[in-house]
Order: sequence, then C-alpha cells, then structure tokens
Amino acid sequence: MNTTSSIPDVFGQAELGPLTLRNRIIKAATFEGMTEGALVSDDLIEFHRRHAAGGVAMTTVAYCAVAPEGRTERDQIWMRPEALPGLRRLTDAVHAEGAAASAQIGHAGPVANGKSNRVPALGPSVSFNAQAMQLTRSATRADIERITRAHADAALLAIEAGFDAVEIHLGHNYFASSFLSPKINKRRDGYGGTLTNRAKVALGAARAVRDAVGDRIAVLAKLNMDDGVPGGLWLDESLQVAQWLERDGSVDALELTAGSSLLNPMYLFRGDAPISEFAATFKQPMRLGIKLVGDRFIRSYPYQEAYLLDSARQFRAALKLPLVLLGGITQRATMDLAMAEGFQFVAMGRALLREPDLIDRVRQDSGTRSLCIHCNKCMPTIFSGTHCVIA
Ligand SMILES: Cc1cc2nc3c(=O)[nH]c(=O)nc-3n(C[C@H](O)[C@H](O)[C@H](O)COP(=O)(O)O)c2cc1C
Repeated sequence: MNTTSSIPDVFGQAELGPLTLRNRIIKAATFEGMTEGALVSDDLIEFHRRHAAGGVAMTTVAYCAVAPEGRTERDQIWMRPEALPGLRRLTDAVHAEGAAASAQIGHAGPVANGKSNRVPALGPSVSFNAQAMQLTRSATRADIERITRAHADAALLAIEAGFDAVEIHLGHNYFASSFLSPKINKRRDGYGGTLTNRAKVALGAARAVRDAVGDRIAVLAKLNMDDGVPGGLWLDESLQVAQWLERDGSVDALELTAGSSLLNPMYLFRGDAPISEFAATFKQPMRLGIKLVGDRFIRSYPYQEAYLLDSARQFRAALKLPLVLLGGITQRATMDLAMAEGFQFVAMGRALLREPDLIDRVRQDSGTRSLCIHCNKCMPTIFSGTHCVIA
C-alpha cells in the first residue's frame, strides 16, 4: 500500500481469492498457436516462461477448451488427461520464475471452426460462421448440461496440472457470451428471451467451476461489457450479469472485456486492422474475398490508452468484486490510474507480446514506454505461433 493514501501500489503483493500474487499485473490470454496435436509444446512453455520471467504476477494460458468442439481450431488444447503432463511442465516453468499460472477455460461456441474440428460448432441458435463457411448447430439442453459439467472437469484438471487460477471465458461471443447476446440467442426455451434465461449458461458455468474447485485455486471470469454490435449485449444487461456473479460468489474477480470474435473482432483490439495479413492465412477464394470486402467484417477502431476504462468504470461503481482492467494498457501511469480508479488488477496483452520483459523495466523505471504500436499484425500470427512481427 502507498503510505500517503489507500491506493494500492501496482507492484505491491495482492490477494486474489486464495492466491497471493507478487504484483497486480496479469498477462492476458493471447492464443499462442503453439499446441500442435492439441498438446503443450516446448515453445508454449518457453512463451509463458518468458512472460513469467519478465515480471508479471500471473500469466494466462489461452485457450484451454473444455470440449473438443469448443476449439476455434483443431490444434487448440482441450482439457483432457492426455494434456496433463505438458500442462504440468508449463506450470512448473512459470512457478520457477516466481509467477502464477492461470488457465483460460471456455467453449468457443459459434466461434469454433467446425470444419477444422470436424464436429459442427454449437451456438444458442442456428447461425452462419463466415470463417468456417459453415452453419452452427443449435445446442440442445443435453449439450448445455454437458458443457457446463465440462467447465468443472476442466477446472479440476487445471488444479491437477498445477494451475493457480482458472479464467472462465464469458466474452467475445464464445459459447456463454453467445447465449448472453440478444442478437445471437434467438431461443424460445428457458435459455432464451429474458436476461435471466440468457445468463443461465454463464452463471451455470461459473457456479459449476466454483463447486468443483472450492477455494483451492482462484476463479476469474472474462466477461463482455458489450459486444460492440447493434442489438448485442450492452452495459445495462452485462452490469446485471456481473452483479449476479458477485451475488453468487462464484468468481474471485472479473476481467472486463468487449467485442465479438464472430461479428466485430477489432472492437476488442482497437488500432489498425491487419486485413491483408489476415487474408494471407486463408486459401483462395477466401483470401481474395477477405482482401476485397474484409474491411466490412474487420472494421478498425482508433486506439487509445485504456480504451475500455469508460465502460469499466460503470462496473467499478456498481460492484464490490475485485476487477481487472484490460484493453490498451501499456505504461505505469495507466496502471496507477487503474489503481486510483479502484481496479485491483490490470491485464495486458499486446504490449507484452512486443516486450515480454516490459513489466520488469517499468518497475525499474516508471517512465518506460511500450514499443507496441497496435498494428495488430500479431493477430494473424495466432495460426502459426503468436508473436510480435516487429520484435
Ligand atoms: C494475438 C492475440 C490473441 C488473443 N487471443 C485471445 C484468447 O485466446 N482469449 C482471449 O480471451 N483473448 C484473446 N486476446 C485478447 C487479449 O486477451 C486482450 O483482451 C486484448 O488484446 C486487449 O488487450 P491489450 O490492449 O492489452 O492487447 C488475444 C489478443 C491478441 C493480440
């Protein structure tokens, strides 16, 4: 704590549920593309070891799918006993650098690539996935119950693998988030219509995880504040969902995000839209199509530091739950601002892809400036090993 005020020092120790973290900075999940055969590779271990060595308190392993059809592509880890030895080696490597490890668990729902997974993607309602050029199947009640249980099983596997935390994905129009969205969820049963119904999948997953893990590890959820699409989830409803999560006691902290990987991907990132680099990851004729009309789907939004702060403030005002501020955090002044505004943690993605040791350097010199220019050319590298193309 600061001696002069009750504003926490971002580099001081912090409690997160049962965990004590060495500081308040979390490496946000950035899908690594280093999991051939849906298993941990040495490259993935080294990726997270470097982030741990670079000074973050906790690094987040993206994206640990809870079921095989919940992957955005076939080479993504899904949580099963076969993945355990590699995950254990990864958490050991992170712990050896003095950091904690979090597993992002979730189900990609309509964002999953059914062609690559060789199983149709699942969503609340039948919809078209333009990337996979495939229809998404409407999840049955049995699918929902199975996926809910799979979240609990994945969290138990994460404990076995030595993770200190799990982060439940409730954003970006993945499975739980697509149920929350009034635009995507057109169901007429008990999972559609009212917010109470649309929130059942998200609340159910969080509750199932908490029931399974108790207080053995920290439980975070990454929740959409808004989908960034007309008719999608917006703050009036997401605030209510956050309050329900708080009341239920199922999560130790909420990481606040926005956007839709399905309908408006750049809303989450802000900065340049890497359309030609993205197109190059596809075969013809998709490549040409994306080059020609990609700017309609991949709309760009101007970057500014801490671009989600205005929305996140609404959550800070309405909740007591610890909150993680995310989105365009690159420097000490913004971290301090987040602390002053009452956020308990900050999470950072692209700036740490550019410089994994940025946090140590910011700790030593608070004037350190990030070299990330938010060109977003790291995004298309998720298909071949996520990295900054400049570094
Ligand atoms: C290459 C890349 C991959 C990402 N993969 C994921 C992911 O798997 N899961 C997720 O929740 N967010 C993912 N994100 C979003 C980040 O977690 C973060 O929310 C976003 O980059 C905004 O934070 P930043 O401005 O600090 O980069 C990804 C971001 C990037 C740049």
